[in-house]
Amino acid sequence: MQNITTHTEDNITIITINRESKLNALTIDTLREIKEAVTIANADDSVYGMIITGSGEKAFAAGADISEFAHFNEEQATRMSADGHDVMNTIEDGNKICIAAVNGFALGGGCELAMACHLRVASTNAKFGQPEVNLGVPPGYGGTQRLIQLIGKGKAIELLVTGDAIDAQTALQLGLVNHVVEQSELLDFCKKLLAKVGSKSPSAVHKVLKCVSDFYRPNVNGMQREIYEFGSAFETADFKEGTEAFLEKRKPLFRG
Ligand code: COA
Repeated sequence: MQNITTHTEDNITIITINRESKLNALTIDTLREIKEAVTIANADDSVYGMIITGSGEKAFAAGADISEFAHFNEEQATRMSADGHDVMNTIEDGNKICIAAVNGFALGGGCELAMACHLRVASTNAKFGQPEVNLGVPPGYGGTQRLIQLIGKGKAIELLVTGDAIDAQTALQLGLVNHVVEQSELLDFCKKLLAKVGSKSPSAVHKVLKCVSDFYRPNVNGMQREIYEFGSAFETADFKEGTEAFLEKRKPLFRG
């Protein structure tokens, strides 16, 4: 990996975008590496969650790398967007919970990357925005869709067409982030949140993520998905353990 670092501690994989001097701007290779790291973490049974963050104290990611795509033609840009969507979908559709620890600017592709994660925790200095209209393009990594899903159509359109950035508190009020904490506490807060999820049934967590994803999929019935996932859960060892532990008045020990 040239543009990110990854390490796994206490069953959590931390993926850090490592281009601090460029405010962690997302090159195509950086996104490819993030996809690879997320895929590896999702396949690792010892991992129950992951955190994506940026290096330094200033930026999570200040967008797609403008210097890389400035001379792209239509075909290259279309491929760039489709590949970016694939990366974001890999995060969103993963079987492990993924938190964006937003430690500064999350602009353009950086905001889109944060929105593809299942949860977002921001440091007090974080700033969110989709400034692509300043460059003559709409967002290309799912921003027009996921911003509506998270904050509603009216506010989403306002941010998308003005290109305005909002601070962490405003993002909290709009529902764009789940929590705002001091930067010095950001990673620890995310780790504690993941540890709580890690104590639950991995198979039930995976089923929740699948049902929630289906809410947003055209031509897929999320209610039917929930009925299926609920029923099939009864054949899992986690269900047996969870119900037995309750009846025996002890803590469950889930194995997934
Ligand atoms: N793509 C490529 N390089 C970027 C970048 C991006 N999206 N965002 C920042 N950088 C680079 C700058 O070019 C600069 O590199 P240099 O030192 O080699 O000149 C470095 O990161 C630091 O950025 P700088 O602009 O000097 O920092 P700042 O504190 O003055 O401003 C921002 C911070 C985030 C307001 C500003 O960098 C910015 O507007 N970035 C682009 C945001 C954007 O439009 N994102 C959407 C892209 S689709």
